[in-house]
Amino acid sequence: MKATVTVSFTLNGKPQELDVPPNMTLLHLLREEVGLTGTKRGCDVGECGACTVLLDGRAVNSCLVLAPQVAGREVVTVEGLAPLGTLGPLQEAFLDRGAVQCGFCTPGMLMSAKDLLDHAAEPTEKEIREAIAGNLCRCTGYQQIVEAIEDAARRKNTPG
Ligand code: FES
Ligand code: FES
Repeated sequence: MKATVTVSFTLNGKPQELDVPPNMTLLHLLREEVGLTGTKRGCDVGECGACTVLLDGRAVNSCLVLAPQVAGREVVTVEGLAPLGTLGPLQEAFLDRGAVQCGFCTPGMLMSAKDLLDHAAEPTEKEIREAIAGNLCRCTGYQQIVEAIEDAARRKNTPG
C-alpha cells in the first residue's frame, strides 16, 4: 500500500503540492510540513477553535480535516490575512480594541470573523457571537473581541 498521497491545493493564494500520509490532519500539514505556525493547536478534537482556517472561504477546524480532503481546494490561514506583512482590517481592529491578550485564540477568532465578514456586510452582535461560538478564549471575556469585529465591519463599510 502506498504510504503517502500527493495533495495539490492553494494555500494563501499560492499553489502547493505535498506528499503526506493519508491520515495527516490539515492542522499538522500546515504547522509541521509547511511551517505556518500561526494556526494554533489546542484541543486537537474540534472543541476549541484555535486551529480555525478557511477552506473554500468557510471557517473549519483544521484538526478535523484530513490533508487529502483539501485536494483541489483553497486554504487560507491567519498568515494569509497579512500577505505583505501589513495587518489586515480585522487584525487592526483586534489590536485597537484590546481583543488580544495571550493571543492563543486570536488566529482562530480572526478566521471565524473573516468568514462572517466575507458573507455578512452588517452582522448583528448576535451573529458575531454565533460566528465565534466555536472559538474559546480564556482571557478576554469575549466582549473586546465582539467589539473588534463590529469595528472591522464598520471600517469595511466606510469608504476611504
Ligand atoms: S485544535 Fe482544533 S478545535 Fe481545538
Ligand atoms: S486572548 Fe488568550 S485565549 Fe483568547
